[in-house]
Amino acid sequence: CRVRHYKFNVVMKKYSRLCSTKPIVTVNGQFPGPTLYAREGDTVLVKVVNHVKYNVSIHWHGIRQLRTGWADGPAYITQCPIPPQQSFVYNFTITGQRGTLLWHAHILWLRATVHGAIVILPKLKVPYVPYPFPTPHKERVIILAEWWKADTENVINQAMALGAAPNVSDAHTINGHPGPVANCSTQKGYTLKVESGKTYLLRLVNAALNEELFFKIAGHQLTVVEVDATYTKPFTTDTVLIAPGQTTNVLLKADKSSGRYVVAASTFMDTPIVAIDNQTATAFIHYNGTLASSLTPTFGTRTPPQNATPIANNFTDSLRSLNSHKYPARVPLTLDHSLLFAVGLGVNPCATCNNGSRVVADVNNVTFVMPTTALLQAHYFNVSGVFTDDFPANPPSKFNYTGNVTTMNLGTQKGTRLYRLKYNQTVQVVLQDTGLIAPENHPIHLHGFNFFAVGKGIGNYNPKTDPANFNLVDPVERNTIGVPSGGWVAIRFRADNPGVWFMHCHLEVHTSWGLKMAFVVDNGKGPNESLLPPPKDLPKC
Ligand code: C2O
Repeated sequence: CRVRHYKFNVVMKKYSRLCSTKPIVTVNGQFPGPTLYAREGDTVLVKVVNHVKYNVSIHWHGIRQLRTGWADGPAYITQCPIPPQQSFVYNFTITGQRGTLLWHAHILWLRATVHGAIVILPKLKVPYVPYPFPTPHKERVIILAEWWKADTENVINQAMALGAAPNVSDAHTINGHPGPVANCSTQKGYTLKVESGKTYLLRLVNAALNEELFFKIAGHQLTVVEVDATYTKPFTTDTVLIAPGQTTNVLLKADKSSGRYVVAASTFMDTPIVAIDNQTATAFIHYNGTLASSLTPTFGTRTPPQNATPIANNFTDSLRSLNSHKYPARVPLTLDHSLLFAVGLGVNPCATCNNGSRVVADVNNVTFVMPTTALLQAHYFNVSGVFTDDFPANPPSKFNYTGNVTTMNLGTQKGTRLYRLKYNQTVQVVLQDTGLIAPENHPIHLHGFNFFAVGKGIGNYNPKTDPANFNLVDPVERNTIGVPSGGWVAIRFRADNPGVWFMHCHLEVHTSWGLKMAFVVDNGKGPNESLLPPPKDLPKC
C-alpha cells in the first residue's frame, strides 16, 4: 500500500459547448475533472486549493471514510467549506473497496462541472488476477453529465426563489461533450477507439445534477459486472440505467470487424407531469482500421423513451451481489432499527411567491435545514443548539402515500434533525415515495456506508406482507438507490462507521429543496471504533 498525493486547484476556465462559451468552475482546468487513481488499501491525500469566488468542498462519493468522516466533504455536514484563497487536505484510506466511484463538489450546484471519476484498482499480488471476470484488454472511464448554457448558480437561485422546478439542462454530455449538434460543426463528440475481437471495461459514472440516464451503444451488448464499487453477478443488457451518483462497470466486447457506432445517453424520468427533452448526448466507438471519412455511424435502436419504466425496472431487477466466497454479501439479518422514511415533495407557504406557496421537499415531513456550522464538529465537540437527534422513525401519520392525496395538508416542518445510531447497530430503512405533489423517482444516496437493497415494490409498503419477499441472500450492494416512482425500496446497513452521515436525494434540485437528513453514529467502545480527531487544517465557518 502506498500514499498517493493529488493536487486539485479549483479554478475558472472558459469552455465552449453548444455554440456558446462561458467560464465554469473546474478542477485543474479540466471538464470533466481528473480521474483519481488508487489501489485498495492506499492512503490518498488530496490538497484542494480554492482559487474561485465561491466556497468549495469536495465529496468522495462512495468512499467509506471509515473513522475519517472529516474527509467526507459535504459542506456544513462534515466540514465547513473551503473559503476562497484557502486550502484543505482530504486525507483518507481506502479500506475494503475496489471499483469505480466519483468525486464531486458538495456545495451549491458546483457539482455540475466540478466532478470526476475515482478508480480504485484491486490490491497487487502475484499472480495478478485483478477481477472476478476475464481481464479486459483496456479500461476506459465514461462520465455522463449535463451542460447548461446558463450559469448553474443562477439556475438554482431562480428555482429556489420561485419555488418551482428549475430549467432543465441544454444537453447531456459524454466525457464532456454533447456530441454532434446541428449548426455546431466543431462539436465532434467523444470517440472510443476499439480493436476488433477485444473486450473493454467501461467505467460509467453519472455525474449529472438532475437526471437519471439510459446508456446504450448501437449494435453491442454490455455485460454489467459492478455497481457502486461492488461486484455483481454478471448479466448482459443492451441498455444501462444509471442515476446521478451511481457508477456501473460494464464489459464491452468489440465483436464487429469494423465500423463506427453511436453511443448515447438520454433521460429516464417516469413522472407523468414533467416532460424533459434535454438533448440526447452522443459519442462513438470506432473500430481500428475504419476510415472515418467514408463513414456514416450506425445508430441502431435509439435509447428508450423518457418514460420507459419497464426497461428501467428490468435493469434494476437484474442486479444481484456477486456474493462469492471472496466477496460475500454480508446482509444484516437481524435489525436494531426498522425505519420508514416517506420521501417526496411538499409545499410550504411563501409570502413572495406568486400563488403564496413554494415547492419544498422532505423526509418524513421534515424539510432539512442546513446548519451554519458543520454537524460533525458540533457532534465531536458537543456543541449544543446546532442539531437535535429526534428525527422521526416514521411518517407523522399513516396515509396513502401513493394514492390521490391532493386534498391533504402538505405543509412540512423545518428542522436540522438527525437520527442517532449506536456503533454497529443494524438498520433497515424503507424509502417510500409519496405522491403528494407527484410521484417521482428519487435516487437516494447514503454517505459513509454501502447498503443492501433487499426489497422493492410499487404502491404503499406493507410491513406485514412485503418482508416475506425480501432477498437476504444476494441483494445488490450500493451507495445510491433509485426509489421507484410511486413505490418503495428497503435498504439495510450496519452502522459500523462513527460520525455524521448525510442521506439525500442525488437529484440536486430535490436536495436543495430539502430532501435530505443525516444519521449520527456514536463511537463504539473498542480501540478502532471511534472517530479520529479532526485534521488541523479543517476549515472554520
Ligand atoms: Cu454524491 Cu452527498 O453526494
